[in-house]
Amino acid sequence: MAERTPTQARQKGRENGRPGAARTRPRARGKTVGFDQIRKDPEVLALIEGADLALEAIGFTDHGIRHIARVANRAMTICRALELPARDRELAGIAGYLHDIGNSVHRNRHAQSSALMAQRILSRMGMDPAEITLIMAAIGNHDEGDGEAVNNAGAALILADKSDVLRQRVRSSTPMLTRDIHDRVNYAATDSKMDVDRPGHLITLNLSIDTRVSPVMEYFEIFLGRMAMCRRAANFLNCDFSLVINGVRLL
Ligand SMILES: [Fe+2]
Ligand SMILES: [Fe+2]
Repeated sequence: MAERTPTQARQKGRENGRPGAARTRPRARGKTVGFDQIRKDPEVLALIEGADLALEAIGFTDHGIRHIARVANRAMTICRALELPARDRELAGIAGYLHDIGNSVHRNRHAQSSALMAQRILSRMGMDPAEITLIMAAIGNHDEGDGEAVNNAGAALILADKSDVLRQRVRSSTPMLTRDIHDRVNYAATDSKMDVDRPGHLITLNLSIDTRVSPVMEYFEIFLGRMAMCRRAANFLNCDFSLVINGVRLL
């Protein structure tokens, strides 16, 4: 399928009535489950911790509560900055909190296992099935291997998750030069900010990278696919996507 330009994507988005347009949702048939309820749920917290322990055992960067909280908060910040409906913002936060729990089962296909596990948890809480479906689609589509933005919460989740490259995520104590490239690039990233320019329809990821630790080229070597996914997610939200590293606009 030919790729759409941002302008075409925005036009297509408008035709589809997104984002934030008054799309007709089925009438609520359950409780309004809030972000705070998810954040404090003991089962959710145990699954986040268990998923992180499993990933630590196979050498992955931090996927624990700090990653989860940053992703959920950034996803909600993006929705707020774009003035999306308040409920979309809350659903993005809930999706952010639950998006990686499937790593407690296996890293492979964790987006889909997370979605199915979220379905059971949210059903237990009595959430409206239409909202559960939306969250499942957002979570099940967050991985760059096979995911795409399919709703506002999902687009915000992709942007928040794929931009979480940060020194604090590295837990390896191996000497710098022998570190895995993912550890090296994360360690080199000393700051990560996302700016949302709603009137200008532009979402910008601003990264500070210590090039003594890792050259910028290494960032692209492993994260080009993620940046392309961010661009498509931004397009879904009627925006362009820009990447600025050390003050230089690269995308
Ligand atoms: Fe993930
Ligand atoms: Fe994640």
